[in-house]
Amino acid sequence: MKRELKVAVMGYGTVGRGVCEILCEKRELLAARSDVDEVSLQYVLDIKDLTGEPVEALWVRSVDTIVSDPSVNVVVETMGGTEPAFTFCMKCLNAGKNVITSNKQLVAEKGEALFQAARANNVSFRFGAAVCGGIPVLRTTVYGLAANRMRSFCGILNGTTNFILSKMINENMSFATALKLAQENGYAEADPAADVDGHDACRKTAILCAIMFGGHVYPDEISTEGISKITLEDVAYVNDFGGKIKLLGRGKQLEDGSVCAMVSPAVIRNDSMLANVEGVYNAVLLHGDKIGTVMLYGQGAGKDATASAVVADILDCGRKPGFDTAYSWEAADKKRMADPDEQTLRLYVRGFANQENTLSELRESFGSLTVLHRENAPGNEIAFITDEDKEKALTEQLRQVKSFAAASVIRLVSET
Ligand code: HSE
Repeated sequence: MKRELKVAVMGYGTVGRGVCEILCEKRELLAARSDVDEVSLQYVLDIKDLTGEPVEALWVRSVDTIVSDPSVNVVVETMGGTEPAFTFCMKCLNAGKNVITSNKQLVAEKGEALFQAARANNVSFRFGAAVCGGIPVLRTTVYGLAANRMRSFCGILNGTTNFILSKMINENMSFATALKLAQENGYAEADPAADVDGHDACRKTAILCAIMFGGHVYPDEISTEGISKITLEDVAYVNDFGGKIKLLGRGKQLEDGSVCAMVSPAVIRNDSMLANVEGVYNAVLLHGDKIGTVMLYGQGAGKDATASAVVADILDCGRKPGFDTAYSWEAADKKRMADPDEQTLRLYVRGFANQENTLSELRESFGSLTVLHRENAPGNEIAFITDEDKEKALTEQLRQVKSFAAASVIRLVSET
């Protein structure tokens, strides 16, 4: 009997278009790699008018057309958001179809229910494109590092913010101009606040925590800060320190089994492995008990890179049919999240003094600190890096100096 993957794509945006292009351009190669006789695109679902598009003949407006066609065995969801993506994916899974998604919000918020439906119907639910676009982070963790107990990860997980920060650091470009460029290149989410405020990186961090440490981690359990408060002044001071500012997603399983996770801007030293990851590129360091450290690097956003990861998941449906337990996790107790304030680190601080002896007061409160410099700084501006202590203690020491008004506080991260 002829073995075929008949694919429907829901959502003809940047990523959906990329998936359709690969499916149409590489039919023979894909069939060989998936160990089936044929891979073909059957339907493209979108609410917008696809007249004049290369996929016009395959355009459908209702998910029911896809669900009720028994020949369709793989459905790709590239719509984004939780609804109607969740309802459509559940319909497809319950109709016995494999589902592939690039939608990190959907997986981070609704993963448990989707796994349950996929397990009950013994079909695949895969989401490799949801974390770091084209970089095979999830499949490397699940399959390549299967012998390890994963300890922690640290990564640049959002292409848009890395693109913006790179432009600010290397070209002194304003935040607004860099964001506009990222949108024009198709890197940003439909609502770019999801990138800039750290929510996109938070969803990816939640998925990485769940796949590495087991048990669902919800985005609202992860302390999240974005990059909108980072200024060119901070960039200059951190340059004086010999570092760069990056938006990092981090997760760690502590000895007691609890998970500590955070998304925030971080100062990293120029000689750290993530410091030269520029533009839309993402990179993630994975730490396992047997492998030590693995670093994965590549394009974390954009049409072709993300579509490449989606298509890899489609092909797995031919090679490994049915529900893949390794590529899933169970529900978890919310109490297992650890308080990030208890972690030991250094802080970068910039702010303004309102007395002559403020710097002496800061030195007294912190014990010692490294003062930083930049050109053309106002006379009352002070920037420094603290010594190492628990974040909670450092925050209290800062609060005690009443003559200093902090404008920026950024964690210094050394585990990169
Ligand atoms: N907006 C996301 C980013 C797309 O910039 O990384 C890929 O997830």
